Amino acid sequence: MKNKIQATQKERLMRDNDFIVSKTDLKGRITYANKIFIDFGGYSQDELLNSQHNIIRHPDMPRTVFDLLWKTLKSGNEFNGCVKNMSKDGGFYWVFANVTPSYDSNNKIIGYYSVRRKPSAQALSVIKPIYNEMLAAEKAAGSKNATDAATQLLSEKLQGVDYEQFILSI
Ligand SMILES: Cc1cc2nc3c(=O)[nH]c(=O)nc-3n(C[C@H](O)[C@H](O)[C@H](O)COP(=O)(O)O)c2cc1C
Repeated sequence: MKNKIQATQKERLMRDNDFIVSKTDLKGRITYANKIFIDFGGYSQDELLNSQHNIIRHPDMPRTVFDLLWKTLKSGNEFNGCVKNMSKDGGFYWVFANVTPSYDSNNKIIGYYSVRRKPSAQALSVIKPIYNEMLAAEKAAGSKNATDAATQLLSEKLQGVDYEQFILSI
């Protein structure tokens, strides 16, 4: 379904007190979405439940960021990052996301949980041009080498600081 949506320039802005929340199973299928998630995404709860979380993926996002997200989560750590998401009508909204693994009583990961809040203007002004360059590097490198190329570019941009540290510092 998401591939048929034409991206538009209509932006939705998070408010200071908004929290957009979702939960997924181990495969990234949505098991919970709060009302603000539904308001921003434009999908009904029925459309969201059991759908892959990439239902709101925006084509402007470098896939390397999601690679990093999944690597971080699967190693048991939490991920923080800026993400541009796409609504059902093709509009977009930027979030600052905190994504964490959920554990059962045997310390086994049983799903994931994300809380998103309004990103700072400062963070967005820094991250947008970096994502644009990463996306261009991915396209130029071709599918097979996309992530290597964008990862290399990111590490040059951040001069040795990792993404997590960087995003929390801006
Ligand atoms: C808890 C959780 C929250 C996520 N939130 C988002 C999100 O807000 N936007 C997004 O594009 N991907 C999100 N993802 C990542 C998606 O599962 C997916 O990896 C990403 O959209 C890239 O999709 P693709 O691999 O089909 O290109 C989330 C994943 C998890 C586990």
